[in-house]
Amino acid sequence: MSGATRWAPRPLPTWKTPSTSRCSLRAAPTPSPDHLPAHNRRFMSWEDAWQQGRTGWDAGQSSPLLQHLVASGELRGRHALVPGCGAGYDVVTLAESFEVATGQDLAPTARARFEEVRAQAGISPERALYLTGDFFHDDPGAPFDLVWDYTFLCAIDPSLRPRWAARMAEIIAPGGILAALIFPVLQDHPEREAERMAQGPPFPLRPADVEALIATDFTTRRLEPVPARLSHPGREGLEWLGLFVRR
Ligand SMILES: C[S@@+](CC[C@H](N)C(=O)[O-])C[C@H]1O[C@@H](n2cnc3c(N)ncnc32)[C@H](O)[C@@H]1O
Repeated sequence: MSGATRWAPRPLPTWKTPSTSRCSLRAAPTPSPDHLPAHNRRFMSWEDAWQQGRTGWDAGQSSPLLQHLVASGELRGRHALVPGCGAGYDVVTLAESFEVATGQDLAPTARARFEEVRAQAGISPERALYLTGDFFHDDPGAPFDLVWDYTFLCAIDPSLRPRWAARMAEIIAPGGILAALIFPVLQDHPEREAERMAQGPPFPLRPADVEALIATDFTTRRLEPVPARLSHPGREGLEWLGLFVRR
């Protein structure tokens, strides 16, 4: 993507802009409004990041793994959701195999980029929707046959992970799938994990921890490393796929 920002090369992915300024939620450039829910006080940082083009997470295209899963027919159905969809590349990919794919994001400014991506793909607004809203509070039109999480779980504060799991159980229909492209996985490098947990987002994830988070309501279908050829360049070896079926 022209002008796309890139994550820093391995082994420590960071959300950098071309000017090397970090997309750090810890250094919110604008004060957090008091009326926002406590977990959401960093909202202004996400919106600021979008407004200022500090979107170093943006790979400029849909996940190669998701493209593969859709092309192979493994992910299909009526209604899919991508929470924290950003520019919405993955929403557009899912619109190929779902009747409706919805992207939800807190940042109003991300919508303009989403609409560009959708239009370039030739997908109608009825089939690829963008909802400005908070995953934890706003109803994106549940129930869903599929929720695709990529760089959303790693973006939220780790204290919110149990709420992320509870929300997934609320909005996914029985028999529906939570597909998590778990990233960044740094579990073979504990010293890097500690550093990244202190510095995130992205906050590193352990596949077994993600599985444990949702074990009460979901059965694991697949939990495995992503082949390098199906990772975004620069993210090879840092991604796992989890497919979990809602009981
Ligand atoms: C790291 S970006 C990932 C964007 C996209 N998934 C991608 O891979 O390019 C995380 C996105 O989540 C959004 N976000 C953060 N907290 C959210 C929340 N509580 N509800 C909805 N979106 C949220 C941010 O605005 C941001 O666009």
